[in-house]
Amino acid sequence: MNPVNKTAQQKSVTNVNAIQWQDGILMLLDQRVLPEKVVYLQLSNVKAVAEAITDMVVRGAPAIGITAAFGVVIAARDRLHGSGAWSESVKKAVFDDIELLAAARPTAVNLFWALARMKSLIEACSETQSSETESSVTESSANDDIVDKLLDEAKNIHQQDIAANHLMGGLGAELLTKPCNVLTHCNAGALATGGYGTALGVIRHAHKAGKINHVYADETRPWLQGARLTAWEMKQEQIPVSLLVEGAAAHLMKLGRVQWVIVGADRITANGDAVNKIGTYSLAVLARHHGVKFMVVAPTSTIDMQTATGDDVVIENRAAAEILTFSGKCIAPEGVNAWNPAFDVTPASLIDAIVCEKGVILQPGSEKMSSMANRSYLIDSR
Ligand code: MRU
Repeated sequence: MNPVNKTAQQKSVTNVNAIQWQDGILMLLDQRVLPEKVVYLQLSNVKAVAEAITDMVVRGAPAIGITAAFGVVIAARDRLHGSGAWSESVKKAVFDDIELLAAARPTAVNLFWALARMKSLIEACSETQSSETESSVTESSANDDIVDKLLDEAKNIHQQDIAANHLMGGLGAELLTKPCNVLTHCNAGALATGGYGTALGVIRHAHKAGKINHVYADETRPWLQGARLTAWEMKQEQIPVSLLVEGAAAHLMKLGRVQWVIVGADRITANGDAVNKIGTYSLAVLARHHGVKFMVVAPTSTIDMQTATGDDVVIENRAAAEILTFSGKCIAPEGVNAWNPAFDVTPASLIDAIVCEKGVILQPGSEKMSSMANRSYLIDSR
């Protein structure tokens, strides 16, 4: 990965895209060093793309999916370059690369959704390609065609995610009936998506409509997505924001200082359970106890109708070192163990509203989820 320093420190975040495809190169904003530094890494091969996902250069369910889609473009281009012509063995090698990307992180379903979409395009292209090479089409133009089509698909996935975020922003903001304070967790903003954000998309939209007085952002241990990323996004758009440690949420709610919790999701299962950043479940329990409303905002690419409940989802466990150290310094006695699950499951019964680009589900459950899944898209997906 080659770092490219940008002097964009104070550029509006809506102009700073987490994922960029420029002149055939995938550039990722290194989210590990924000807000101190704005650095883009150039990803030149599929292994580097998978590592960037695992190592949190790029994070957030939709952003992971979009990045993986571009990773497939790089894989196809490299495999073709190495062998000269598309064949069953090239296809197999690209499918192996897809497996490598799929193993990068286990919880966000957007990763598997985007890879499945790229894989089915490869299958379709392979069939067309074999019939074309039997006719007069030259081998090299057919090869270019596959890579171009994969690139178009990755760009579509990216653009459709941005469009979905804007739709969700409007739908979610409508649920806020009067100006209020909201609490959010982790970062479900422009940085975690194709752009604009899911939870932060709703907050952006509602703030513009005069419905947000103040945003409270959980710092979100151990990666501090709330402190480093959400606070950064809010500050750049002059949306009033206060940071708090996760442990302060109960006190905040007891004091009546927040009316809605608005979060994103890494996966929403067929019964309406939402898997999201560790600590989300605690917020949902607290919200119900204190009469605070709880909204989950996520595109349909985050909805997994194949998985029955949140308890069936693989929860990523990350390295103990992430919580035993801070800024590279040991903060616990040597030899101490740590348990570091990255996500938890909020049961549907604690969720007041799920907002996706197809609409809003109030008091979600299996029936409402399947009728939403069967609804046609608000966005024309082709
Ligand atoms: O570990 P992360 O930073 O990838 O976790 C991100 C979250 O939990 C987000 O809330 C979720 O992916 C939704 S992003 C729109």
